[in-house]
Formats: sequence, C-alpha cells, structure tokens
Amino acid sequence: MAKAFKVAVLPGDGIGPEVMAEALRVLDAVETKYDVKFERTHANVGGAGIDNEGKALPETTINICKAADAILFGSVGGPKWETLPPDEQPERGALLPLRKIFGLYANLRPAIIFPSLTGASSLKEEVIAGGFNVLVVRELTGGIYFSQPKGIEGQGRDRIGIDTMKYSVPEIERITHVAFQAARKRSKKVCSIDKANVLSSSVLWREVVTGIGKEYPDVELTHMYVDNGAMQLVRWPKQFDVLLCENMFGDILSDEAAMLTGSLGMLPSASLAEGTFGMYEPSGGSAPDIAGQGIANPIAQILSAGMMLRYSFGLVEAADAIDKAVAKVLDQGYRTRDIYQKKDGEKLVNTSEMGKAIIAAL
Ligand code: NAI
Ligand code: MG
Repeated sequence: MAKAFKVAVLPGDGIGPEVMAEALRVLDAVETKYDVKFERTHANVGGAGIDNEGKALPETTINICKAADAILFGSVGGPKWETLPPDEQPERGALLPLRKIFGLYANLRPAIIFPSLTGASSLKEEVIAGGFNVLVVRELTGGIYFSQPKGIEGQGRDRIGIDTMKYSVPEIERITHVAFQAARKRSKKVCSIDKANVLSSSVLWREVVTGIGKEYPDVELTHMYVDNGAMQLVRWPKQFDVLLCENMFGDILSDEAAMLTGSLGMLPSASLAEGTFGMYEPSGGSAPDIAGQGIANPIAQILSAGMMLRYSFGLVEAADAIDKAVAKVLDQGYRTRDIYQKKDGEKLVNTSEMGKAIIAAL
C-alpha cells in the first residue's frame, strides 16, 4: 500500500490560493509517480479565516494542523484587513501564533539562482555562472530577539536600552542537528556563523557546534565570523552549502542571500519543529497588486511543497525531481511575468501554464 502523509493546506489570501492550486497539482503528479499519498485537508487562514470564521487563525484550522504531518501555507494579508488592530491582522494573528503553537524553532531559507536566471542577480555573471543554491538555517525562537533582560530603563537622558543575547546548550544543539541533517540531504557542507571573537554566546555556540559536528563525520564543518560571512556571500556565494546561524545573524544573512538571487518571489521556506513536523511557505507575500489575474509565479509555492517532501516526509528523490523539473522549465524558457526579461527564447506564461510545464517536466 502507498505510504500516506497528512497535509494541512492553508492557501490564505491574494495569490495564495492561485499558486497553491499549482503546488497541489504537482503533489498529484508525485503521488502517481512515487506511490505515495498526500491526504489533504483545506483550512482557512489569514483574511480568509477572518472573513469565514471571524479569526485569522480559527480553532478548526489549529486542529486540522495538529492532526497533520505538515502544513503547506500560501500567504496571508491584503488591504482589506489593514485597518484591524495589529494582533488581529492576518500576518500577526496567524503566522506568529502558528510558530508558537507548533514550536517552529528552525527556519530554512534557500537562496537559489537557477542557471538560466543569472541575469536577474545583482552579482557579476562570472561569480554566479551555473547558478548557486545556499541554504540558511536560522534559529528562530532564541537569541537577542527574545532573551531577558530586555527593555528601556531609567528617565530622560539617563535611559538605557537593553537587549540580551543568550543561548543554552540544548537550544544550540537542536538547531545544529537541523543544519547537519539538511547538509546530509544536500552538498554535505556546514558553515557555522558566529562572532566568537567578541560574544560569549558565540564562544559557547562554536564549542557546541564543533562537538555535534563530530557526530556527522560525512559533513564538512567550518566556522566564520558573521562580518566575514556577509562579505564572503557577495564575493563568492558558491563556496557555501548550509549556513548555520543564530536568530539575528540568520535574519540578516538570509535577506542578503535572498536578494543576491534577484527574485524573492521564487524562493521557498520551511519552519521546522522538533521531530519531522514543519510549515512550508513561499518567502513572498500575498501580492494584492496581481491577485486574481492568474499571472502569479507558482514556483516558490511548488518549491515549498518540495521542501515539505524533503524535510518532513523524507521523500528526497521526489523533492530532487521537483527541483530539477523547475530548473528544466526555466532552461526551456518558460517565464511568468515577474521573471520575464524579454530575451530570445523566453516564453511568457501564466500561473497555470507554468504549473503544467513543471508537471510535464516531472
Ligand atoms: P509581496 O511579497 O506580497 O509583494 C511584493 C512584490 O512582489 C509585489 O509587486 C508582488 O506582485 C511581487 N510578488 C510576490 N510574490 C509573487 C509571485 N509569486 N509572483 C509574482 N510576483 C510576486 O509583499 P508586500 O506587497 O509587501 O505585501 C503584500 C501583503 O502580503 C501584505 O498584506 C503583507 O502583510 C503580506 N505578506 C504576507 C507574508 C506571508 O504570508 N508570509 C509575507 C510578506 C508579506
Ligand atoms: Mg528579515
């Protein structure tokens, strides 16, 4: 009997449902090809949750997610809900609670330049010829964004602003395992980013990462100070496979890496909990400016589904096949409007035509 996985499908708002439809068709194709079954349950989230059930993250949606092996998320938000109190708005009211409820402590964001789209990057052609694929693994629930003490104390010019960077050994251990396990499914290299020449939390970080590295002799481990890492990313990004970062360094470096690709709208992401549970979503938003026109690029959503197969379901072969199918249609010249460069050999297509081309390539 085919192996079955339960997926909570949360399309959300704007282009979310449009690109989700294509990702679901790709899952259909994977079912046929690999003898697996994806049991999908749809649920409201974001503006769709507010309009249909009165809340950005309704109870029914939480329960559907709890019963699932993974969440496939579209995107939420739009002008219609912007006048609501901040905590009730689609993004804050849905994304932050989801992270908290499911303990999504590891954020994985690949920055991918496909060989045929190098023209979109801000980097020189010779630096990125052949494309690149760097994965930033960012710790998402600790570090300077959350540690205590924190706040502004005192009065007037005597005020001091305080933030604390704190990491416990278990917090470092679990994110480090995520990075090494991800590297095992990729090019087997981890570069750990820290500031161990200045920060005590980084001294501990480096020590713990080095210890865990010994459990993964098949993966090469290097360490780099964050300032050098920021520089090396623009100088020669191809030297990296997996970048392991604490929360703030990962926030900054993942945005830097994403922008090197020149096409934020094509990038997927994963947020993982302990075990195999995860939430998968495009890096971009609900794109209200193009919603309803059928022209959105479905690639970020399709690659997010691919990450779900890779990291939550262990279907590495099928995940590789999705990545390869995307690269192939780009080589064949298929372009949605956002990546169309008016070059010879390019074929301008809409959302569903791009989805069909990817399925054909699969
Ligand atoms: P956005 O990412 O939705 O759009 C920025 C630009 O990129 C727009 O011109 C849009 O058309 C384009 N774009 C994004 N994804 C695309 C795709 N797949 N294909 C083609 N073009 C694409 O960011 P923006 O405009 O700042 O936010 C719009 C709404 O989305 C807001 O309500 C915001 O709160 C929400 N948002 C939601 C996120 C989420 O659900 N995780 C993340 C970021 C923003
Ligand atoms: Mg950021």
